[in-house]
Parts: sequence; structure tokens; C-alpha cells
Amino acid sequence: MIDGPPAVERSVLRRLRTAFGQTNTGKYLATKSGSAKVMAGFSRGFWVAVAADVIRSGPWRSAFKNPLPTTPREQSEIAITSFWMHLHPATVSRKSLKFSVTYGLGGLSAGLFAMLLITGIMLMFYYVPATDHAYKDMVDLQSAVSLGKILRNMHRWAAHLMVIVVSLHMLRVFTQKAYKAPRQFNWVIGVVLLVLTMMLSFTGYLLPWDQLALWAITVGTNMAGAIPIVGEKVRYVLLGGPTVDQATLIRFYVLHVIVLPVVIMLIMVFHFWRVRKDGFSGGLENGK
Ligand code: HEM
Repeated sequence: MIDGPPAVERSVLRRLRTAFGQTNTGKYLATKSGSAKVMAGFSRGFWVAVAADVIRSGPWRSAFKNPLPTTPREQSEIAITSFWMHLHPATVSRKSLKFSVTYGLGGLSAGLFAMLLITGIMLMFYYVPATDHAYKDMVDLQSAVSLGKILRNMHRWAAHLMVIVVSLHMLRVFTQKAYKAPRQFNWVIGVVLLVLTMMLSFTGYLLPWDQLALWAITVGTNMAGAIPIVGEKVRYVLLGGPTVDQATLIRFYVLHVIVLPVVIMLIMVFHFWRVRKDGFSGGLENGK
């Protein structure tokens, strides 16, 4: 006598039976291997037996540790405990979930960042960070590549929008006093995110290597050069030399496509985790 299948298998087999209309799967369940059933031809029962073998296998068991939810109650329990409760703090006031509290500005900032990542990766297929290539690559992208112009503009518009939306998000946190205890640290993390967003924008500005880019970066780095005592050194480190040149372009490129996005992503995850841990402020009344 072979023991009945464990809960995981029972649940999957129940579903299979429903799907295949198979009523006499009992004998297949009692069989260790479905291979004997190959002899019976490729009937529905055969496929049920094969599926039974698959769900008894080690890889399947290690992938699905819990039985599949079979009732609407089990399904909603999974949605609530695994997703909803994880996404939101353990308790939230009804008021803090209102759109007029956050205006969705934090989520929008994250959405724009995701859009910048996707369009940025696509731009990297065409762009070469070399002084004799960069400008030509951008012109070619817009004139010779299908949807190239919209791709470039989506990246630019999303970049401009992100600066605006992150600033508005900061303004809403400030006006609603959401920076007060216990959220002071998340405010500090937010300030770091704002600075990094500006840096992402600044480093991206040089990449088209047109006149606007060259002079904007010249002016920007000259401003850094005006910092007392260390200014000249900071300017030199930023440019990779005395003037805006190939060394500057590759520096800004690496910062723009690798260093800053990775750092922003890590800090963003930390920011979201703090939002969840600190709880939602719930707007003016609770943000004492
Ligand atoms: C890349 C930039 C940023 C992203 C993606 C981001 C994302 C978010 C999200 C999704 C939330 C929760 C929902 C919401 O309040 O809209 C939030 C809350 C918060 N953010 Fe940001 N944020 C960013 C920048 C900032 C900045 C610049 C500050 C302030 C200097 C800041 C401070 C806060 C604070 C204090 C909260 C908690 C607000 C509350 O509980 O009402 N964040 N952020």
C-alpha cells in the first residue's frame, strides 16, 4: 500500500483532474511512476500520470513549497499576507491612503526612474562615448533609426519630468510636515536622492556633445572651481583634466550609466523600506 500524496501534490492533482476531466486518477496516484502508463497510449490519463511524476520531482518541490490556493478564501489570504501587507505598513489610517495625501508623487518619481532606465539602456545600443562619435551618433539616431527620435525624447522628457516630480514630492512632504518624527531619517535619505537625481541630470547633459552640452558643463564645472580652497581640485577631478575633453566625456558617461543609477536604485529601495517601517504620515493632521 502506497501512502497518499502530500498536500502539495493533492492540491495540484485536484486541479489537473478538474482541467482534464479525469475522475479515476486514483490508480495513477497509487503508482510511483507514470512511465508504465505510456503503454496505454497518450490518453488524458497518461498526461495526468506524467504531471504527477513532475510534481513529485525534487526541482518542482523546491520551487513550490506551499500548496496552490484552491479556494477563493485561500487566494485572498495569499494576496493580503504576501503582497498587500508587505507593500504597506502593518497599520495604515484610511485617510493616509487618499490620493490627495501623496498625489502619487513618490510613486511617479519611481515610475519615471524606471522609464529612464529602460530608454537609457536602449540608447546605449546606439551611443558611443567618444568625442568624434557622440554628436554624430545622436544625429544618426534621430534621422536614421526607426523611432529613434521618440526614444531620445522619451529619455529627455522623463529626465526633465523626474527633476520636477521629485521636487514636487519633496514640497508635498514638507508642506504636510511628513518629515517630522519618526520620519526625519527618511527625509535625509530623500535629500540624498534629490542630489543624486540632479547629478544624474547633470552628467547626462554632456553626453550629446553639442555646443549646449559643452558650454553647460564648462559653466557648471567652473562653478565647482569657485569653491574656496578645494575648488580647483574638484574641478580637475570632475573634468579629468584642465578642460572639457574625452576624459570628461568618459567620466560623465560611466557616472551616468552605471554609478549613479546603481546608487540611486539601492538608496530608493532603502527609502521605500523606511516608508514602510515608519508608517505613512497621513497628511497634515497626523504630521505633527
Ligand atoms: C528618487 C526620488 C524619490 C523617490 C522615487 C521617492 C519615493 C517615495 C515614495 C514611493 C513614497 C511613499 C508614497 C508617497 O509619499 O508619495 C515616499 C515617501 C516619502 N519620501 Fe520620497 N522619494 C524620492 C525623493 C524624496 C525626497 C527628495 C524627499 C525629501 C527630501 C523624500 C522624502 C520622503 C518622506 C519623508 C516620505 C514619507 C512621507 C509620508 O509618510 O507621508 N523623498 N517617497
